[in-house]
Amino acid sequence: MDFRKLFLHSSLLVLHFAFSSSKDTITINQTIHDGDFLISRENNFALGFFSPGSSRFRYLGIWYRKVREQTVVWVANRDDPINGSSGVLSIDQYGNLVLHSYHNLKVPVWSTNVSVEATDTCVVAQLLDTGNLVLFDDRSKSTVWESFDHPTDTMLPGMKLGLDRRTGMNRFLISWRSAADPGTGNFSLQINPKGSPQVFIYWGTKYLARLSLALEKLCIYINASFVNNQNETYAAYSVSDASVILRLMLDYSGLLKKIIWQEKDGKWNEFQSTKSPCDPYGHCGTYGICDPEFLSRRFECDCLPGYEPKSPRDWHILKDASGGCVRKRLESTSLCGHGKDL
Ligand SMILES: *[C@@H]1O[C@H](CO)[C@@H](O)[C@H](O)[C@H]1NC(C)=O
Ligand SMILES: *[C@@H]1O[C@H](CO)[C@@H](O)[C@H](O)[C@H]1NC(C)=O
Ligand SMILES: *[C@@H]1O[C@H](CO)[C@@H](O)[C@H](O)[C@H]1NC(C)=O
Ligand SMILES: *[C@@H]1O[C@H](CO)[C@@H](O)[C@H](O)[C@H]1NC(C)=O
Ligand SMILES: *[C@@H]1O[C@H](CO)[C@@H](O)[C@H](O)[C@H]1NC(C)=O
Ligand SMILES: *[C@@H]1O[C@H](CO)[C@@H](O)[C@H](O)[C@H]1NC(C)=O
Repeated sequence: MDFRKLFLHSSLLVLHFAFSSSKDTITINQTIHDGDFLISRENNFALGFFSPGSSRFRYLGIWYRKVREQTVVWVANRDDPINGSSGVLSIDQYGNLVLHSYHNLKVPVWSTNVSVEATDTCVVAQLLDTGNLVLFDDRSKSTVWESFDHPTDTMLPGMKLGLDRRTGMNRFLISWRSAADPGTGNFSLQINPKGSPQVFIYWGTKYLARLSLALEKLCIYINASFVNNQNETYAAYSVSDASVILRLMLDYSGLLKKIIWQEKDGKWNEFQSTKSPCDPYGHCGTYGICDPEFLSRRFECDCLPGYEPKSPRDWHILKDASGGCVRKRLESTSLCGHGKDL
């Protein structure tokens, strides 16, 4: 390692604080190296470097502190893994959280990349007990950035998914690529803010399934809320019993999982045991929509607007939608764009 080079970039290395286990913040000129952690005040969450599964790469992430099986809920550098234990997290002179590797101190691996107007020396990053990493101005107490606005594949209680029209920020989940690779996967869960807001799972740009918003029906612990006004359209939920550890996660195969930690068994349990008929990918074929709520009409599949079943006999009589849908022949209907192959 080229130590002279390191010391030239003194802003990273002026002080290397020894972190006690109770440390939940970093400020300007402090650093977190691979092996250091931030621990939220009530010991709920930890932030640090990890390697998922069999991966040999290092990622900066947040995981549960009270759950024995390491379960990561957020990843900073999901598409830019660090090679070896060379990662350093710090707050730079502009007041941004930046992640560097010793191997390249010039170009950050990841950064919050926000413009902070206040005096940068007042900026503090704190890991909260909700699992939210918040960068805020200590004097005005205003938040400049938070990890809850940049979710990975997990929706935690208190997190909002959806659109803030005032800032243009749209928050959605994107699956990991595999159990050992948190890189941007093919599935996303998004709130469609147009018309009556709905929750959709996409495969790339392709519309895959519509989900029931009635999350509260799924579990006694969940209090789901849905807000739609001129400023915001979002879904959120809270958990009525604070001792319950619960998360919603879009896994790498595109399934939305509702998972609860069972302390007595020492493992995660999916508490919604009934699988949706819409879970298998492609269940309703090309240009088909799968909606579990259609079951009240005795079949969960439908075609996108402007499309009709390719084989009406299979579709209507055999309830086999795998042939998918084709563009309606006579009608020229405007397509909403969701189902187009790009
Ligand atoms: C951070 O380090 C720089 C470079 O040594 C120093 O000029 C500055 O005063 C430090 N800031 C704080 C808040 O300690
Ligand atoms: C990671 O480091 C090893 C050993 O230094 C090197 O052989 C390998 O090419 C590096 N990989 C990447 C992706 O940087
Ligand atoms: C930071 O954000 C600006 C605009 O907000 C963008 O142009 C730039 O590419 C971003 N930089 C990085 C490193 O993400
Ligand atoms: C994502 O989709 C592309 C295109 O079909 C495919 O090649 C790739 O394997 C998929 N990736 C994952 C992680 O499933
Ligand atoms: C559920 O959440 C809403 C909105 O956050 C809140 O107003 C309501 O009091 C909560 N209900 C319960 C039973 O916790
Ligand atoms: C929308 O935001 C404006 C300005 O922040 C606020 O005055 C207004 O009450 C908000 N409306 C709703 C419905 O929350």
